[in-house]
Amino acid sequence: MNASIALTVSDVCQRFTRGEQSIDVLHAVSLSAAVGESLALVGPSGSGKSTLLHLLGTLEKPTAGQIAIGGQDPNALSEPELARFRNEQIGFIFQSHHLLPQYSALDNTLVPTLAFPQESRANRARDLLTAVGLAQRLKHRPAELSGGECQRVAVARALINRPGLLLCDEPTGSLDRQTATTVADLLFTLHRSEDTVLVIATHDPELAERCDRRFALREGTCVEV
Ligand SMILES: Nc1ncnc2c1ncn2[C@@H]1O[C@H](COP(=O)(O)OP(=O)(O)OP(=O)(O)O)[C@@H](O)[C@H]1O
Ligand SMILES: [Mg+2]
Repeated sequence: MNASIALTVSDVCQRFTRGEQSIDVLHAVSLSAAVGESLALVGPSGSGKSTLLHLLGTLEKPTAGQIAIGGQDPNALSEPELARFRNEQIGFIFQSHHLLPQYSALDNTLVPTLAFPQESRANRARDLLTAVGLAQRLKHRPAELSGGECQRVAVARALINRPGLLLCDEPTGSLDRQTATTVADLLFTLHRSEDTVLVIATHDPELAERCDRRFALREGTCVEV
């Protein structure tokens, strides 16, 4: 549904100010991803990986610099336009699944479709949950699912609106090695079949190695490694 997109980050700076103290977490960070590429963001704790993901996710605006997602500068959009752009073009997966406890796997997958009127996505939700191996768990609530199964629902939910950009912050960080591999396998399979740009912040060298390219953040700078 959504066009395939590429991603460009140009000289992005992010400064956090608290009272007298300012920290330049990101200083002139640049990177790019071609349509359908996967990128890993690596670097020590506190190096700004999550901060950069927030900026890519248009959840925050950079102090300086430009971000273009599919040629669109999110900063040029009004708040309502930005909310719609984010909803349609960007999928998020976090370390914890953030599923709504009272909803079934199917209804959790459909949550991102509720914000804006659009065609029914129930069939797509079923297809995605089948693709992540949960065809027999559609009516289960998070408390009735394992941690790995919840994260697989989160993967389906992130993809429901066919986003062009899929952002993952330590997506397998809470899972045992075998479950982490299963979830990563699904993530890469769907990233390819859905033709999204995939950006993963991770401390896991195996996960980083599976990405097409790796960018290391350190003391505000970003270099491809
Ligand atoms: N809203 C904020 N206000 C002030 N400082 C912030 C804010 N968000 C992040 N920081 C600071 O920015 C730095 C980078 O944090 P960030 O969460 O991006 O690191 P990270 O690379 O994701 O680390 P980790 O690997 O531990 O998840 C930290 O020093 C943090 O204290
Ligand atoms: Mg982080």
